[in-house]
Amino acid sequence: MLKDLKEIVRYPISIAPMLKYSDQHSRYLFRLLTKKTLLYTEMVHANAVLKGDAKALLTFEKNQPPIALQLAGSDPIQLGKATAKVTKYNYTEINLNVGCPSKRVQAGDFGVSLFAKPTLVAEIVSQMLENSKDIPISVKTRLGIDELNTYDDLTHFIEVVSAVGCKKFIIHARFAKLKNLSPRQNRTQLALDYPRVWKLKQDFPGLEIIINGDIISIAQIKEQLTKLDGVMIGRAAFYNPYLLSRFDQIFFSGQNHPLSREEIVDQYLEYARKEAAKGTSLNWLLRPLMGIYKGENNAKFWRKKIGKLAKIGLDF
Ligand SMILES: Cc1cc2nc3c(=O)[nH]c(=O)nc-3n(C[C@H](O)[C@H](O)[C@H](O)COP(=O)(O)O)c2cc1C
Repeated sequence: MLKDLKEIVRYPISIAPMLKYSDQHSRYLFRLLTKKTLLYTEMVHANAVLKGDAKALLTFEKNQPPIALQLAGSDPIQLGKATAKVTKYNYTEINLNVGCPSKRVQAGDFGVSLFAKPTLVAEIVSQMLENSKDIPISVKTRLGIDELNTYDDLTHFIEVVSAVGCKKFIIHARFAKLKNLSPRQNRTQLALDYPRVWKLKQDFPGLEIIINGDIISIAQIKEQLTKLDGVMIGRAAFYNPYLLSRFDQIFFSGQNHPLSREEIVDQYLEYARKEAAKGTSLNWLLRPLMGIYKGENNAKFWRKKIGKLAKIGLDF
C-alpha cells in the first residue's frame, strides 16, 4: 500500500507551518536531515506580502525547496494578488490557512474562522488558482469549529472548496473551539479523531488528503500512510528533529545514508556562525537544535550544552 501511494503522491511527508518556529533557520536544520520532505513556512499574511518587504519575507536559500508557503487572509482579491507576487519565488505549493485559532486571527476573521464560510474560502482559492501560474494551491483546516462539528459540516466545506479546483487538503484531526480556549488549549485539550479523516479520504478518493495532529513516530506515519496520501508533522520536528533523518530513505526511496547527530550539529553550527555574524541572536539560531539528542542517553547533557553555547557564543 505504501509503495502505491508513493507513486501517486509527491510529498507523503511534510513539516507543518508553525508561527515563530518554521523559519529559515529551522528549515536549514530540517534540510540537513531530509532533502525531500516538503517544508511549510510559518503563516504569512497576504497584506504583508503586498505591503511589506516581500523580498525579505519570501526569499529562501537555494538548497531549501521543496517549500510550501502558507498564506493567511480573508479577502479573495488580496489573496489573489499576493499569490501572483509569490509566483516569482519558486515555491512548490501555496497553502491557505483555515486552521489557526488564535485571538488575533479571529479578530482579523481569517484562519479557522473561515471554516464557517466555505463559499468565501472557495472564492479565495479560486482567486489564488487564477493567479498561481500552475503552482498547486492547498488548504489546511480542522475537522470543524464550535457547533459546526458534524461530519456533514466537514464534507460540505470540502465539497464547496474542492469544486473550484483545490485538490489537496491538510486536516488537523481536531475540532477548534473559538470560545474560551487559547490556541495551545486548542492543540492539547481537544480529542483527536483520525477515523474522521480516513473516512474523508474514502468519500473523496480523488482528493489528496493529508493528516496532521500528534503524529510523532515512523510507525505512526506508516500506519497513517496505509489510509491516507500524506502525513504532516508539527511539534515533533522541534522536540525530536532527528526523527526526520530517516524520512528520505523510508518514504522517498532515497539511497543516501543519514548524517549522524554529530555531523548535523557540526554543519548546523557552521551555518549558525555565519548567521550570527550577520546579527541574528544565538538564542534564536540554536533553538531548532535543542532536541537533536532526544531519545539518547545523554540528551539532557547535550541540551544544556547547546543552551550554554547560546550564552557563551560559538567561537569555542
Ligand atoms: C507554535 C505553533 C505555531 C503554529 N503556527 C501555525 C501556523 O502558522 N499555521 C498553521 O496552519 N498552523 C499552525 N500551527 C499548527 C500546526 O501546524 C499543527 O497543525 C499542530 O501543531 C498539530 O500538529 P502536531 O501535533 O504535529 O504539532 C502551529 C502550531 C504550533 C505549536
